[in-house]
Amino acid sequence: MGRTHIITTSERGINEDSLPFRLYQKAKKFGVWDPKDIDFSKDVDDWQTLTSEQQHDILRLISQFQAGEEAVTLDLLPLIMVIAKEGRLEEEMFLTTFLFEEAKHTEFFRLVLNALGANHDLSHFHSDTYKEIFYEILPEAMERLVTDQSPEALAEASTVYNMFVEGVLAETGYFSFYESLDKAGIMPGLMKGIGYLKRDESRHIAYGTFLLQRLISEKPHIYDRVVQKMEELAPYSFRLNQEGLSGKEVSNFGVALEDTMAFSQKQIKARMEVLSKARGKSLAEIYKTSESELGVQA
Ligand SMILES: [Fe+2]
Ligand SMILES: [Fe+2]
Repeated sequence: MGRTHIITTSERGINEDSLPFRLYQKAKKFGVWDPKDIDFSKDVDDWQTLTSEQQHDILRLISQFQAGEEAVTLDLLPLIMVIAKEGRLEEEMFLTTFLFEEAKHTEFFRLVLNALGANHDLSHFHSDTYKEIFYEILPEAMERLVTDQSPEALAEASTVYNMFVEGVLAETGYFSFYESLDKAGIMPGLMKGIGYLKRDESRHIAYGTFLLQRLISEKPHIYDRVVQKMEELAPYSFRLNQEGLSGKEVSNFGVALEDTMAFSQKQIKARMEVLSKARGKSLAEIYKTSESELGVQA
């Protein structure tokens, strides 16, 4: 199939005011940190001061992030393909930064593990619930886009990827890192990277929110499907939190399960509230949404 026109030499040019293009500009500025520049020497010293139970907690968290970043790196392409086929240039320009950043996140956690000498197989940290999400639900929702490019399939993929995996699971994971390590003032290299990651992810989640809002604005019934999907996924996040503590109520860093659960719940609620605002909004309004409205970190 050939093409019928070129966008950037037409009168339209590039839609510089659109949210995706503004996110692309932000990514060029803030998404260029290099995992290789982070110094893990203090982390290596701090690691030795942790109890073996604490090391176990952190290794589980890192190994879940490591596999999660690898999964989102490998699974994103079908979404980019759909956006490219639809000729949405500004969105695709942003998505080039998105994929690059996921690759860097994957590199980052591997550098942490290497520095800590954790070169053994860590897959036993992937519990049944974790495997269901990252080995089945996520890749299946993304792969479906290869054969089904309907707005419904796109909305489902973005709900799983951006709203749930990034917006709920990853955000809860950062919360655990901050509560465990940042509060104790240890492992500064790891926490520095987590800070960068969190900022990158705020753009990814903002894009997912924009995409879902665009789809909902075009086809309002999609909102109900997104709500249904999130309701279906929510219990997975709670089970994952419970499994992370192996049946205990408080982590080896003194973080209460109750607090982690409340954080996940808050994230789910926040995602849905933002999406509910898309109903009745015009497309023009959605393209004009400000970064701050979507929680993008500067
Ligand atoms: Fe990531
Ligand atoms: Fe991401």
